[in-house]
Amino acid sequence: WRSAVVMMEAPVLLLLLLLLVSSCCLLTATASLYSSSDPLVLLHSSNYSREVHGVETAWVVEFYSSWCGHCINFAPTFKTFAQDLKDWEHTVKVGVLDCAVDENVPVCREHEVMGYPTIKLFAARASKGDVGTDMQRSSTVDDMGRSVIDFLVDKQKANNGSLSWVNLQPFRGAAADAWSEVRDYGIVEHVVVIVDTAKSYISWRTILDLGGYSTVAVRYKEVDILDATEFSSADLPTVIFVDKALKEEVVKGAPNTREGLKEMIAKKLGLNVGMLPYKTVYSGRRTDAAVKKEDTEGAGDGQPEEINSDKLNYEDDLPDTAFAGIERSDQVYMVDIENAVSYALGHEVIQHKFVRGEALKSLQDFLEVLVKYLPARPVVHKFLSKLHQYTVGQRNGIEGIKFAEVMKSLQGQDSILPTHQPWIGCLGSEPRYRGYPCGLWTTFHVLTVNSVLQDGSKVSFNAKTILRAIHGFVKHFFSCKYCSQHFQAMYAEDAESSVNVADDGILWLWRGHNKVNKRLHGDASEDPMHPKQQFPSEAACAACWHKGTLVEQEVLPYLKRIYSKGMLSFRGTQMISPPAKNKQARVMEELEKNREREERKESVKVNEKLHNMAEQQPLRPLSTWGFNSTDISLCVFLYGISTLIIMSVYCMVVIRRKLRRRRFLEAYKLPLVKRLCVKATSCYACFLHAQQ
Ligand SMILES: *[C@@H]1O[C@H](CO)[C@@H](O)[C@H](O)[C@H]1NC(C)=O
Ligand SMILES: *[C@@H]1O[C@H](CO)[C@@H](O)[C@H](O)[C@H]1NC(C)=O
Repeated sequence: WRSAVVMMEAPVLLLLLLLLVSSCCLLTATASLYSSSDPLVLLHSSNYSREVHGVETAWVVEFYSSWCGHCINFAPTFKTFAQDLKDWEHTVKVGVLDCAVDENVPVCREHEVMGYPTIKLFAARASKGDVGTDMQRSSTVDDMGRSVIDFLVDKQKANNGSLSWVNLQPFRGAAADAWSEVRDYGIVEHVVVIVDTAKSYISWRTILDLGGYSTVAVRYKEVDILDATEFSSADLPTVIFVDKALKEEVVKGAPNTREGLKEMIAKKLGLNVGMLPYKTVYSGRRTDAAVKKEDTEGAGDGQPEEINSDKLNYEDDLPDTAFAGIERSDQVYMVDIENAVSYALGHEVIQHKFVRGEALKSLQDFLEVLVKYLPARPVVHKFLSKLHQYTVGQRNGIEGIKFAEVMKSLQGQDSILPTHQPWIGCLGSEPRYRGYPCGLWTTFHVLTVNSVLQDGSKVSFNAKTILRAIHGFVKHFFSCKYCSQHFQAMYAEDAESSVNVADDGILWLWRGHNKVNKRLHGDASEDPMHPKQQFPSEAACAACWHKGTLVEQEVLPYLKRIYSKGMLSFRGTQMISPPAKNKQARVMEELEKNREREERKESVKVNEKLHNMAEQQPLRPLSTWGFNSTDISLCVFLYGISTLIIMSVYCMVVIRRKLRRRRFLEAYKLPLVKRLCVKATSCYACFLHAQQ
């Protein structure tokens, strides 16, 4: 039975799975903060290693997460930065990797990326285990450019550069001597030495900017004490052109800007962009129309309706007090919570290479609070408690990979962590808005409210326990680094001191959420369609407002109402197949009937086949080997038929003869003895004998 059911369901499940997978891909693809029209390389786990490992160029890689507010804010800066480094591809390339994409998790884990955005620098020929050097994220493109230059200069000095890089090492000696250090002697026509103060980023940038021209070798010479007599500060930077015949031309007081210096040198040597030998890596620049088309298509496509409509109804398995009301504008949806929990555990936690110590304790506590107070559906609850049990048992820590495996193995008939479904309450106007952070806040509110509703009156209840668990999770696992830091700061400020009675936990979280809303109002990560207002809005709870301010006594019952178990809407949640007994029995019965029908059809088919074989095929010589039961029954069948035929032929012959004989006897009136003889033996021989 069971296996039959599984077999029947398998194709449907597979289809469902495919749909889910494709919808997830679609979601994440459109949520990306960067597109192929940006001047950087879009990396993905499928091509990360090929692009970054073992290559001659250095790399600057931003590990980001498309839902993280700071990443959204930072993206324009990073694009400008990439544009700024566009001409440096001969030495260093710029790429981005979205850690919110499930397939990229292993890469982010290997690189120990714990918060977003994280920028890492890799030298030439980075190996697989190389986790890179963290670069300070800065709001100014200039600072980031300096960090990259420092990194390149250091690596090159330590022999970890590449011959294909431009030479950034300060040059010593007379300008003409620079020729002796030129590598591609045959190609290079001019050596240019820029003399400037120590650590001149303008010079370095110029070198990098002009590095694409193979006919020019630009070097940087720091003025030292000996040179000080030769060059006054007004002369700097000085540019010395040395041609192949070692003829020098000195230009003192050259422009002291990157652009000015670059243009001056290019003009002097007749360099133009057409001479650049290399092609830009992001050459697949698409038309704006194509980009726009994809954007608009992507926005709607993220919500595959058919996934929901195709599922069995879940009505039999709701938590005790089922939501029956009409969905309001402030409706809280279980699908948002399940999505957030699923991402938190199945993405954030498993991204850690190793969870141990305080982080492990935080994970255990958070899971415990989820198991105790999240009004999850029974199968989801079962999943969470099994995961909690497992986690508690791991005293020495858990590897992220192992945790992922355990999560996979816990997915079964009666314990499920739903896969991502389209957001409803947390749906942003674009995929990068809202989503996970919104879902996580919702989960936190639901936890604080339901813990109080369930256990608030017990003496042992401590509102701080819930907040501590939330804080621990945010501190160790919420990968939006800056959001996490803000939350921690907020917690440190007054959570422990101001939370005393049960309801305080609900109110503290609500105040905190509103502080964040206030801080992020007008921020680039704010969804223009869902401005971050103080919550609840006056439209949702008129009583909560008094003369333009929120009144806590009114807000508290409001929060307790909308986040309570019975008020949650389960619309859009993933349908889970083993529903309550009666329905299951019905489904089983139906499947059993189908199976019997199929079997009958099958046996009819086999009989027909046998028939055809009997008519068409000549009899094979008899041999017991290789005969199955059908062959044998066929033989018996044919044997019976032929016996019948032979017997009827025999009877016909006998009867006919008898008749003839009677007529003959009557005609010739044979003596009685002879007739008796015939009768007794009915033997032809006897008959013949008698006639003689
Ligand atoms: C890497 O793969 C991603 C996703 O398949 C693709 O968008 C990107 O263009 C690829 N990058 C390179 C450099 O091949
Ligand atoms: C730098 O180069 C040295 C030797 O040249 C090598 O042993 C070392 O592994 C390199 N380091 C990196 C980070 O590539």
